[in-house]
Amino acid sequence: MKILVTGGAGYIGSVTVERLADDGHTVVVFDNLERGHREAVDPRARLIVGDLRNPDAILDAMRAVRPDAVIHFAALALVGESMEQPELYFHNNVVGGFHLAEAMRKVGVRRIIFSSTCATYGIPDQVPITEDTPQRPANPYGESKLQFERMLRWYEIIHKLEPVFLRYFNACGATERLGEDHDPETHLIPNVLRVALGQSDAVPIFGHDYPTPDGTCIRDYIHVLDLADAHVRALETPHLGPYNLGNGQGFSVLEVIETARAVTGHPIPTRIAPRRLGDPPVLVADATRARTQLGWTPKCPDLHTIVQDAWNWHRAHPHGYAGSKRR
Ligand code: UFG
Repeated sequence: MKILVTGGAGYIGSVTVERLADDGHTVVVFDNLERGHREAVDPRARLIVGDLRNPDAILDAMRAVRPDAVIHFAALALVGESMEQPELYFHNNVVGGFHLAEAMRKVGVRRIIFSSTCATYGIPDQVPITEDTPQRPANPYGESKLQFERMLRWYEIIHKLEPVFLRYFNACGATERLGEDHDPETHLIPNVLRVALGQSDAVPIFGHDYPTPDGTCIRDYIHVLDLADAHVRALETPHLGPYNLGNGQGFSVLEVIETARAVTGHPIPTRIAPRRLGDPPVLVADATRARTQLGWTPKCPDLHTIVQDAWNWHRAHPHGYAGSKRR
């Protein structure tokens, strides 16, 4: 197939592009390189540098490429930033998404695999979270993702688009060549590994008085390779979803740090810090639907493997991708 991948220079996007190229697909990446990395784009893919906020840029790309399907990663994805500058999130994620949907409609491209998030559920009443859990986002990031899901639903009904929503839980891990390089980095595993690399003194633990067994937040960590696999399966599925993507097993912040100590052999000192605004205590997926309808089975569910893969990448790339806009 010929696939247009928006955000293919980002973390999950670049790993999915690598997988698509391995599978023999023709891949065109559309990315503004604002937060992604040119070095992360697989050399087998063509890169169009463009911005979804510019409707002509994505329409021109859609007309030139005429893909069989779109996989849409390009978005801003920092919860904290979204609480300070919601306008960035509605502009990039909703307005940008609208321009993408319009370009698809005008060119007649139907299938779109959309990177959605467990943040669309907000603080759920019960876990594990099924796809039928009410979506009540607790921050503009989650809200922006939900708004684009809703927009696509109407495009499905009225314009016959075929959207598949993949709601990720906590993406992590790496391939040999590709890993997580955000600026600023807010995610737990890279920040823990940064301490092991000697780049910071201690990991802040954001809250140790949550209603969980050890008082720290519990998350469902899912390997980026398993996320990429779900995208490939979503390309041709007759079942449009939505799909939660997680392992269905939760680990606390302390358990992640303990695993990283075992993997790296570093003591990884910690310090207790205040709770982070809007952090739900427990987020764990019920991914039964993805397993049964997409035939998706995570191949790297083991936390030790996940942290080991991330560690291998961070050790090989202690300052992320060369030429990244690191401050
Ligand atoms: N944490 C720390 N110290 C750190 C970094 C994180 O204690 O230095 C804690 C967080 O408070 C949280 C857990 O580790 O309890 C995981 O935090 P991450 O930032 O790694 O991931 P989040 O669960 O906050 O974020 C993920 C996705 C978001 C998504 C969100 C939904 O990365 O895109 O889940 O809540 F919106």
